[in-house]
Amino acid sequence: MKKLTLFSIFLAAVVIILGAYTRLTDAGLGCPDWPGCYGNLTVPLSEEKVAQANAAFPERPVEAFKAWNEMIHRYFAGTLGLCVLAIAIIAIRQRDKGTPVKLPLLLLGLIIFQAALGMWTVTLNLLPVVVMGHLLGGFSVLSCLFILYLRLRNTAGDASKTKQAPIASAMHDQDITDLPQAKVFQRNLKLFAFIGLGVLVTQIALGGWTSANYAALACTEMPVCESGWQERIDLAGAFSVPDADNYEFGAHDYGERVTMHIVHRFGAVITFLYLLALGISVLVSRYTTSKQKYVGTFMLVALCTQVALGLSNIIFMLPLAVAVMHNAVAAVLLISLLNLIFTVFLALENDNVFGTEKRNTGSFSGSKPLQGAGAFSIHEAPLHDPLNASTSSHILPKAPGGFHG
Ligand code: HEM
Repeated sequence: MKKLTLFSIFLAAVVIILGAYTRLTDAGLGCPDWPGCYGNLTVPLSEEKVAQANAAFPERPVEAFKAWNEMIHRYFAGTLGLCVLAIAIIAIRQRDKGTPVKLPLLLLGLIIFQAALGMWTVTLNLLPVVVMGHLLGGFSVLSCLFILYLRLRNTAGDASKTKQAPIASAMHDQDITDLPQAKVFQRNLKLFAFIGLGVLVTQIALGGWTSANYAALACTEMPVCESGWQERIDLAGAFSVPDADNYEFGAHDYGERVTMHIVHRFGAVITFLYLLALGISVLVSRYTTSKQKYVGTFMLVALCTQVALGLSNIIFMLPLAVAVMHNAVAAVLLISLLNLIFTVFLALENDNVFGTEKRNTGSFSGSKPLQGAGAFSIHEAPLHDPLNASTSSHILPKAPGGFHG
């Protein structure tokens, strides 16, 4: 199941990139029906089939390149759907072995909803709410698969591979009295990382809205927009859906597009500053693990790349490759933040990490389902806890590798 989940993550990434490519090559309506293409399983190619297709959909004659874009995206998405179904079935079968079940079932629900959004994208003629929802749904599927993978990788059975003492390893040469502060730091990190997740998801949604409404080039000047932008701002209009038969190439007026574009730019500044501060605090803190520093560095690199790609979108007038990468790196940024949050959960859920809960037992063979249980195993004689020096029964053990009280 772990390998299948990993493969599904790869597939989800491909589907997201193909989705962006389809949208950006204006091929979202390359096949005007769903789930087939002009009523076929593949793109109609023979003269006869093309003639039939054109007769059935006179308003949208066959454009083979666009139709293939759309169908390849659907084939990959269909394969991903089957993989997620298989994951859910395996999870149910193995539920007695402690395999997560709720997450695979949630994933199955999400993928079915994604298929419905894919259908509405076509049948509702690229209604922006649906297009943006489809983008967010894709990111949600990827995120859930990634979290599932992390959980499977860190189940007790696989603990040996990632065995480490999260906080203890970071505090190798420090005084044991720092441990309570480390716990407080990790709790705060959890809170601020979750706020960061909210900020990032909002920014991704704003980006999806900008893209779904073809507002990428509404502003071509830096740093905000063309002069006079202040008079054009129309928040209510920008975040409503005008009545239209077809939303291809956008249905909002110029002022509304300018507004959504500018909101995404301001959102970028907030997201950048917030995640930058979060990443730097992970890097400089003495209470974070080496794994967290690694994940934090990765996140910062993804963040800077994302901003550079966003700026390139504007400076180079939305080159296809840059726009597709801007979408892909948003996904990378999201999963790197999720990874950071996961490492905090590991650290906090592992009651061994801080040497508090079970300090008297002399045994740290935790029974948490997540890895980390037992990671901070005790080999040496217990020492006195300097925080509780008066209570001689409170003893802190000595961790391997020079973690002294
Ligand atoms: C801080 C992090 C940022 C994130 C997470 C982010 C995320 C996104 C996402 C998810 C999209 C939708 C892509 C798609 O539908 O294919 C998007 C679109 C866009 N973003 Fe960003 N963005 C960020 C920063 C920026 C910056 C700094 C700029 C430029 C100043 C920018 C300019 C754009 C433009 C022009 C689009 C529309 C592209 C299109 O139509 O395909 N973004 N962004």
